[in-house]
Amino acid sequence: MGKSLDGKVALVTGAGQGLGRAEALYLASEGAAVVVNDLGASVEGEGRESKPAQAVVEEIKAAGGKAVAHGGDVSSYDDAKEMIDLAIKEFGDFHILINNAGILRDRMIFNITEGEWDAVVKVHLKGHFNTMRHACAYWREQSKHSGQPAYGRVVNTSSEAFLMGSPGQPNYAAAKAGIVGLTTSTAQAMAKYGVTSNAIAPRAATRMTEMFGMDKDEFAPENVAPLVGFLASPAAERISGQVFIVWGSQVSLLAPLRIEEKFETKGRWDYPRLADAMQPYFDKREPVTDGFIVKY
Ligand SMILES: NC(=O)c1ccc[n+]([C@@H]2O[C@H](COP(=O)([O-])OP(=O)(O)OC[C@H]3O[C@@H](n4cnc5c(N)ncnc54)[C@H](O)[C@@H]3O)[C@@H](O)[C@H]2O)c1
Repeated sequence: MGKSLDGKVALVTGAGQGLGRAEALYLASEGAAVVVNDLGASVEGEGRESKPAQAVVEEIKAAGGKAVAHGGDVSSYDDAKEMIDLAIKEFGDFHILINNAGILRDRMIFNITEGEWDAVVKVHLKGHFNTMRHACAYWREQSKHSGQPAYGRVVNTSSEAFLMGSPGQPNYAAAKAGIVGLTTSTAQAMAKYGVTSNAIAPRAATRMTEMFGMDKDEFAPENVAPLVGFLASPAAERISGQVFIVWGSQVSLLAPLRIEEKFETKGRWDYPRLADAMQPYFDKREPVTDGFIVKY
């Protein structure tokens, strides 16, 4: 029996270690040829080192797979194009984009600097946009040329930090929320070209989460990779615009945001009527934890 990703070509960003490495190895083990991108930066996004990406390429090749390294920066629009061009040049086509590269600059909203804000939004949100922009242009052109749907799969990396409003991560939570908006917008825009776009909110024991002392088995990045592989596969062609929380042996599908309560009046609302409607509602509403979203 063939493997689920035989003949497919993938790019995994930030794949020199942690979640990206596990995802690249998994895609390769399922038959995909992989561009292993990694800047080789610190958790804060500083420095540059080509060894981590190259080491993952060697691991894939040693296991009989196909891979090539790219040491570019996802926050660069031109580097992102180069990554996809490299996939096409080396392996003849491009099918799967796994956006994973990320950094942290944690700080409370009242202390965060402009630079800390910009750096995180640039790597996560703009980094996701950069690769998606070039990948989607390629797939749209391919589909228009052939008159058939292309094969395109985007798997983005969001975070529960956004769902929970992580207080020490205003930059990161905002970027991860933006990634969900980018994911669903792209899902809508690219459906007619045969492209799906989904996001995961993973939990894994990596250098990024070292301070939490997470159990290395339960939170192994390898527990996250199979969902990414599945979403990249032909079997997932009808799954798009979705967000999944994934860790250990659990995969949870998020429901769309829903209206909790509708307040209506005759004509335009005014202050007294808004106060009459809102105050009693919020007075009796306990702060509740609804699964993962803390409501105040
Ligand atoms: N570990 C978790 O529990 C967790 C939870 C939620 C979300 N995430 C997200 O998962 C992704 C991977 O995180 P991880 O825990 O494996 O972290 P990690 O630090 O182990 O790996 C991130 C990799 O991204 C690379 N990178 C950083 N900036 C880059 C850039 N500009 N261009 C290319 N590569 C770059 C780094 O060199 C590093 O190898 C991130 O987007 C992170 O926000 C992780």
